[in-house]
Amino acid sequence: MTTPPRPGEAGDMRLLVLGGTVFLSRAVAAAAVGAGHEVVCAARGRSGSVPAGAELVEVDRDVSHAPLRGSRFDAVVDVATMSLPWVRDALAAVDAGHWTFVSSINAYADTATRGQTAAAPLLAPRSDVSATTPEDPELYGTVKVACEEAVRAAYGDRALVVRGGLMCGPGDVWDRFGYWAARFARGGRAVVPEVPGHPAQVVDVRDLAEWIVRSAEQGLGGTFDGTAPGTTLAALLDEVAAAVGAPDLELVGRPAEELAAAGVGIWAGPRSLPLWLPESHWGIVDRDVSATLAAGFTARPLAETARAALAWERELGADRPRVAGLTAAEEAALL
Ligand SMILES: NC(=O)c1ccc[n+]([C@@H]2O[C@H](COP(=O)([O-])OP(=O)(O)OC[C@H]3O[C@@H](n4cnc5c(N)ncnc54)[C@H](OP(=O)(O)O)[C@@H]3O)[C@@H](O)[C@H]2O)c1
Repeated sequence: MTTPPRPGEAGDMRLLVLGGTVFLSRAVAAAAVGAGHEVVCAARGRSGSVPAGAELVEVDRDVSHAPLRGSRFDAVVDVATMSLPWVRDALAAVDAGHWTFVSSINAYADTATRGQTAAAPLLAPRSDVSATTPEDPELYGTVKVACEEAVRAAYGDRALVVRGGLMCGPGDVWDRFGYWAARFARGGRAVVPEVPGHPAQVVDVRDLAEWIVRSAEQGLGGTFDGTAPGTTLAALLDEVAAAVGAPDLELVGRPAEELAAAGVGIWAGPRSLPLWLPESHWGIVDRDVSATLAAGFTARPLAETARAALAWERELGADRPRVAGLTAAEEAALL
């Protein structure tokens, strides 16, 4: 690798986003364009379009990174979901002053202990799996760890690893936070998990994207959890309800045992109550993010995220088939 340039000052970077057509990577590209940077997105262009002002270079990472070979950027942001070959090929193809890899909270070995920092023990790295949609959170985490190591090995203190928490807001296709915004806006009696002390921690995709861009501008190195400070699930749901709930909304708590007995799933997916987790996983939604805050991350008020999530839900269409949450019929059966 030739001696790379240092990252630019605000407004004068040439930034490569590996992705850029959907959710976080698109928000990163949009934030960078907004900050006045020159932005190139490398993707197939299948998941959506790049934001206005960014350029799309068509790359299929399953085939090759050849269209990027020999290019130089002040900073790169890679969101490779779970493929070490993608990450390695990109590192070999592109020369940059700073490299951000978006990892996940699923990289940690201990899902139960609350208040852990980014120094907590990780899963053993695994390099032999590739997928764009993670099915198994632990497998996903092991590949993220391998990708993190590859980026650190290549970029040392010019590598920024951001372990994303549960992302929400505009562009979200996972329905987890969005389910609650849409459900509460519909009003009536809404079933919620009643689990005292249950922690919750999410991040507005725009806050994360803006911090990633600012960090690249500053050449920030190190490993951080990319999520906002935590709260309790009850407080989070109350805040969402206060922000977007219909006037006749009533939250009806149901204990975990009752929900489980009725076949309601946790966290995500069909027939679930999103964000609800067993105690064995409370550690992933109660991270100590003081280092992230000290490094300049700022979170907007949750009410603002809830309003944006609802607007996005309405854009997607309230009656669409959902990938997470209860259907109206499933909820009625519980009531
Ligand atoms: N969602 C969450 O709550 C959460 C939580 C923690 C961490 N994360 C991490 O955060 C990141 C989210 O990234 P994201 O929001 O941008 O969504 P993503 O679905 O992880 O990334 C999708 C991007 O990759 C591109 N892509 C997919 N297949 C490709 C291929 N074969 N060749 C080239 N490009 C390809 C897509 O573009 P095209 O399809 O247009 O090619 C798209 O721009 C990921 O690293 C994820 O693991 C997410």
